[in-house]
Amino acid sequence: MNLPDNSLKFQDYTILIIDDNPTNLNVLVDYLEEYGFEIMIAKSGEMGLKRVKVTKPNIILLDVMMPGIDGFETCRQLKADENTKDIPIIFMTALDSVEDKVTGFELGAVDYVTKPIEQKEVLARINTHLNIQDLTYKLNHKIEELTLTRKELVQSEKMASLGRLVAGFAHELNTPLGVAIGSASTLQIETKRINEIMEQEEVDVDELLSSLDSVDKSSNLALSNLERAANLVTSFKRTAIDQTSDEFISFKVKELVDNIINLLHNHFKTTAIEILVDCSKELIITSIPGALEQIITNLLMNSLIHGFNEGLDSGTISINIKLVGEILHLEYSDTGKGIAQENLEKIFEPFFTTNRANGGSGLGMYICYNLITNQLKGDINCESTSGKGSIFKIDFPTILKNEI
Ligand SMILES: Nc1ncnc2c1ncn2[C@@H]1O[C@H](COP(=O)(O)OP(=O)(O)OP(=O)(O)O)[C@@H](O)[C@H]1O
Ligand SMILES: [Mg+2]
Repeated sequence: MNLPDNSLKFQDYTILIIDDNPTNLNVLVDYLEEYGFEIMIAKSGEMGLKRVKVTKPNIILLDVMMPGIDGFETCRQLKADENTKDIPIIFMTALDSVEDKVTGFELGAVDYVTKPIEQKEVLARINTHLNIQDLTYKLNHKIEELTLTRKELVQSEKMASLGRLVAGFAHELNTPLGVAIGSASTLQIETKRINEIMEQEEVDVDELLSSLDSVDKSSNLALSNLERAANLVTSFKRTAIDQTSDEFISFKVKELVDNIINLLHNHFKTTAIEILVDCSKELIITSIPGALEQIITNLLMNSLIHGFNEGLDSGTISINIKLVGEILHLEYSDTGKGIAQENLEKIFEPFFTTNRANGGSGLGMYICYNLITNQLKGDINCESTSGKGSIFKIDFPTILKNEI
């Protein structure tokens, strides 16, 4: 026998031929076997369905007209089974009817050949579909690999940012604690000295007063630095999302914003800062009110402290809230001094602050960012021009309720 050049090219592949009259196909079987294919034959749809349960072929050649269940029904059952639904099926039909071809494709067949069978044509079609199958398999494998890599990357980025947060916290805490320790040891030395002065026969009043002054300064320094450390711990604790407050409930947005403004009244009452709220009184959303409160409070305090120079400058804060579909759009802007271009990308980083000297921890915007992206599953963006103020655009999905 004259073997083709690429004989045994397909020796790892199995074809199942389901046909009630396989003798017709003897020529085809011989031809395909020359190429190395393993051929299985089933004489009815029922037999075919049984055979695939034992050995899963790479491809199925399926006759349409058979006694018992016909080719279409066999195809339907193969496609309905999780184990066999991915095996490519090529219909063999004697009828060159358009309907048959359409029905075959609709049932999930990948191709058809018409009888009398043309050997070369069948081989070419089998080859094509095995290639597609291989490529699909490789593609799926790649997608799985990529998905895994992405998951690992996200996880390792999370760990890295947690590491940075903890390192930043330790670093921030080190300074006030160091100063407090220094002050406490000065206190210790001065106390000893005061005892010595008091034990002398003649008390040196000047020396005593100087020591007492030093005690006063050191204790003030220790106190303010310990307060700073305590504040840092409080802010840091807020970065861990409070599990009890992440409940979704329905509330009136305008009422919530007005309440916050009232709560902050003491901070704003002596300033020339106007706060304008544009939000429908009737707007009710289902979301996490605690998170929204924290976000708006941080934004207002930042405008007051940074934008308006601790309330010494005058200006306007505008809060515009509207619902588009199920997305809440909150645009917060102030006409304060704005944020320098080089700082704009850093404001959401933990511990970034331009106000360290006055007790800023640099965690406010970091907390907002986390609340918005993690708890509310939304986005926050900041635009700012130095001297012209800042705009924060916040979007997050809600569940809309029109009626009270
Ligand atoms: N409205 C604003 N106008 C000008 N600068 C702002 C504004 N909001 C934020 N910033 C800048 O972003 C920085 C980071 O803000 P963030 O709230 O994270 O920290 P902070 O206010 O300094 O400290 P705290 O942790 O006490 O809030 C601020 O130090 C400030 O430089
Ligand atoms: Mg702040």
